[in-house]
Amino acid sequence: MSPVKVQKIVCIGAGYVGGPTCAVIAQKCPEIIVTIVDLNEARINAWNDEQYRLPIYEPGLVEVVRSCRGKNLFFSTDVDKGIQEADLIFVSVNTPTKKSGVGAGFAADLNYVELATRRIAAVATSNKIVVEKSTVPCRTAESMRTILEANAKPNCRFDILSNPEFLAEGTAIKDLHNPDRVLIGSLQTPEGLAACQSLSDVYAHWVSRDQILTVGLWSSELSKLAANAMLAQRISSINALSAICEATGANIDEVANAVGYDSRIGPKFLKASVGFGGSCFQKDILNLVYLSESLHLPEVAAYWRQVVEMNEHQKSRFAKRVVDSLFNTITNKRITVLGFAFKADTGDTRESAAISLIRDFLKEKANVNLYDPQVEEYQIWQDLAEASPNLSLETIKKQVNICSSSLEACKDAEAIVIATEWKEFKEIDWETVYQGMNKPAFVFDGRLLVDEDKLTKIGFKVITIGRGSL
Ligand code: UDX
Ligand code: UDX
Repeated sequence: MSPVKVQKIVCIGAGYVGGPTCAVIAQKCPEIIVTIVDLNEARINAWNDEQYRLPIYEPGLVEVVRSCRGKNLFFSTDVDKGIQEADLIFVSVNTPTKKSGVGAGFAADLNYVELATRRIAAVATSNKIVVEKSTVPCRTAESMRTILEANAKPNCRFDILSNPEFLAEGTAIKDLHNPDRVLIGSLQTPEGLAACQSLSDVYAHWVSRDQILTVGLWSSELSKLAANAMLAQRISSINALSAICEATGANIDEVANAVGYDSRIGPKFLKASVGFGGSCFQKDILNLVYLSESLHLPEVAAYWRQVVEMNEHQKSRFAKRVVDSLFNTITNKRITVLGFAFKADTGDTRESAAISLIRDFLKEKANVNLYDPQVEEYQIWQDLAEASPNLSLETIKKQVNICSSSLEACKDAEAIVIATEWKEFKEIDWETVYQGMNKPAFVFDGRLLVDEDKLTKIGFKVITIGRGSL
């Protein structure tokens, strides 16, 4: 069975993953027509914006879209037409944690994946390679295949591949241009292997063949969960050690550096923080927990659950340190929170530690000044309202003030809390900030970002994750 030469690709889901991934495919494969479709019209309009005000912020993304939009890259809400014309379909819709029903709080909500799959079966009139790009529980590909085969028109073949995406937000374009590896899972049948070859040929336009790993479907699905779980586990490990550092006078940066020099451990992903966020780590670990429980492996489930529990503990421990340091009360005090995104260089706020911190400060009846260079105001109100269902949005708006610069946000505050490691927070004019604050002026560095000695010399009381405040 010879592989199909892919000429037209459609991606269902123009989000943080589908958008950048397929834009880079278009850029690297000029002879392939790539159409990214989404049900959300506002999102598609933004992708088509004349001034390139795209719906997501990602360094380098505008340049990629500018280089091929209107040539071989298109954005559309016409999902059916996209499906009909394509020979390869990426399914890149979101798979959030279920909020109700069986597995609520743990299992992935596959409703959108199923809807997209049913749509493909309903409208396809020719053979398709269907690629699951969304992160999904193990064996989802099998469910997709069953749905497709049960609803297919005669003479329509579907081959399913799993091709998880490993890009990190903030460095998506760099990661896509230069991936550590591309992983493709397929059935080990002649048809499955041929489909795998077709997708490998797409990536081979810019990724060397030895970095394109081809494996079985289930290994591919599980590898994505495993990679995220192990990355998150490293952060929870270093954050657990940061608590010991704070209690003993050791310095977590020095510990991480010493540990990371061991070539078996390596230096990456050992940065202590106020807690990991993002749309993937927590969701994927909870998914693994659910999977382990379903497979009657309670000890395995408990092991992975602890990674998430440690992360929750890190966030609440940090909020408590703020309250304790401010003489055990922050009621009516003004706290500045710098950063709302879950990491620097993205406008994404999903599971951001800043949300939990502000929720805890609101419970203590503090006033919060907030500044983030990228996150949109409506998103902040939506996240804060969701995090504090007992408070009305009106009450939240009375307590929280969104500011348009760090300097404005820090004025008249008792304490500054650094929640996101935006580079511009490193370059703040701390002398001026200090003059404008109430004294004693505290800085709580949740990202190991600022120069503690310099700030201490100015007069600040600096409290840093993983360093004792003795
Ligand atoms: C991705 C993956 O798909 C998810 O599984 C992974 O764990 C995280 O990254 P992401 O791209 O970040 O999701 O999600 P999002 O930015 O929400 O984009 C999904 C898009 O799919 C949205 O724009 C949504 O409108 C669209 N969508 C959803 C459809 O077009 N059709 C649907 O039926 C459902
Ligand atoms: C992650 C994975 O890295 C990526 O491979 C996968 O495709 C999606 O999930 P992402 O969530 O976009 O990517 O960002 P990542 O850089 O992994 O950061 C996740 C969170 O961990 C952020 O809140 C970040 O600030 C935090 N983090 C990261 C730390 O606290 N310490 C570190 O050393 C690294």
